[in-house]
Amino acid sequence: MEKVIDETKQGESLVLQQKEGNTRKLYIESYGCAMNFSDSEIVASILANEGFNTTNSLEDADLVLVNTCSIRDKAEQTVRKRLEKYNAVKKVNPKMKVGVLGCMAERLKSKFLEEEKIVDLVVGPDAYKDLPNLIEEVEDGRDAINVILSKDETYGDISPVRLNTNGVTAFVSITRGCDNMCTFCVVPFTRGRERSRDPQSIIEEVNDLWNKGYKEITLLGQNVDSYLWYGGGLKKDFDKASDLQKATAVNFSQLLEMCALAQPKMRIRFSTSNPQDMTLDVVRTMAKFENICNYIHLPVQSGSNRILKAMNRQHTREEYFKLIDDIREILPDCAISQDMITGFPTETDEDHQDTLTLMEYVKYDFGYMFAYSERPGTLAERKLEDDVPEEVKKQRLVEIVDLQQKHSHYRTQQFVGKTVEVLIEKPSKKSDAHWSGRTPQSTVVVFPKEHYKVGDFVNVKINECTTATLIGEAEGYSKNN
Ligand code: SAH
Ligand code: F3S
Repeated sequence: MEKVIDETKQGESLVLQQKEGNTRKLYIESYGCAMNFSDSEIVASILANEGFNTTNSLEDADLVLVNTCSIRDKAEQTVRKRLEKYNAVKKVNPKMKVGVLGCMAERLKSKFLEEEKIVDLVVGPDAYKDLPNLIEEVEDGRDAINVILSKDETYGDISPVRLNTNGVTAFVSITRGCDNMCTFCVVPFTRGRERSRDPQSIIEEVNDLWNKGYKEITLLGQNVDSYLWYGGGLKKDFDKASDLQKATAVNFSQLLEMCALAQPKMRIRFSTSNPQDMTLDVVRTMAKFENICNYIHLPVQSGSNRILKAMNRQHTREEYFKLIDDIREILPDCAISQDMITGFPTETDEDHQDTLTLMEYVKYDFGYMFAYSERPGTLAERKLEDDVPEEVKKQRLVEIVDLQQKHSHYRTQQFVGKTVEVLIEKPSKKSDAHWSGRTPQSTVVVFPKEHYKVGDFVNVKINECTTATLIGEAEGYSKNN
């Protein structure tokens, strides 16, 4: 796996939930996508009512939960390694219980209990409300498992405990599951069918975050543009809804508008958009509201029409270009990022060249690039031979990463000499005398701290840049502060 920019701190223990009177200690670790980090906040909230406070010391924990990712084989190997570490700690603290949450739990089910003796508890992404019962079983000395996927669970009624937070940016989940069935992807199997969360509960969460001092939210879903609330239930059952339900349904651009209006000073982001489901209505709504950030993560996976088809991506290269052109016309300063896979089965050099020329056309601001990893149970695994040699996948990956670096640098250079609005998130990793924050386009900016503080909106004049970072100095508070 290669990422040009990886802001997610993988696996870092999440600190800290403290509720008075709670005596049990939970150590929870998350891997993979933002949704997993968001889910861990829901789990911590559920367990806070069961007497658990979180701890960042593995050695002290009564219960260790690892929220896992199955997206690539390497992600699963990382979790297996962590289980070895927990095993060592359990030798010293035999009372410690270990649970596996998330996509690996769903994919491997009871096999986990057989394969990894250390594991006491296996809980899939839709079963977290059952954790109190399952933990009781484990405490009675039995292994416990619930991997049932749900038609309507969205955890919309649970107020997440914010873990490991900077107090400024937060994730708000809006859909769960995915119906797209990209042939390489394990997510539809591990997270089930797509369902949307009640917009009312989303707006309440956004308002609550604003009241607690948060300044930016990211609406999360595997495929946010296909958000559709018609009173609950699976997206695929929408056709069976009543006329009234259909007439009062809320789609993604309407939800975006509701969020933007509810908190006009809150920065609003969203992720991820699948090109086949993104409508220009969404782009127009972005243009209409200043507080919706001009940044779209628009994974394409490949530039070759033949490979797109084999991946079951429901658009062509030409349709993707048209979408990019339309976005640029409606939102000229919009940043766009990609996910790309090299070495999907049957990918030829010519297909790979198509990926490079597609990238050249778009000149993405950022990118997240991966070598194809065959996932058990997916259509690609069942129907296609994983026939591109590892060295070829890796070589192509190096080529697209290099090209992305070039484009990222091209994009950051466009900001030099300009003034941008930055929301301060944290001290810069490289220098304690500097703040680090992001522009609406999600580009990282560092600048001298002066009298500013975390959570301020500041206008920053950009003097220089690297491929991933803008460097400048503050000119004063922005009008949004
Ligand atoms: N819609 C999702 C996509 C989840 S997977 C979202 O919210 O981001 C994230 C990325 O992982 C995908 O876009 C794809 O580029 C990559 N990926 C998924 N399955 C993969 C596989 N089998 N091998 C390599 N990369 C994969
Ligand atoms: Fe996976 Fe495609 Fe959905 S990448 S999460 S099946 S949009």
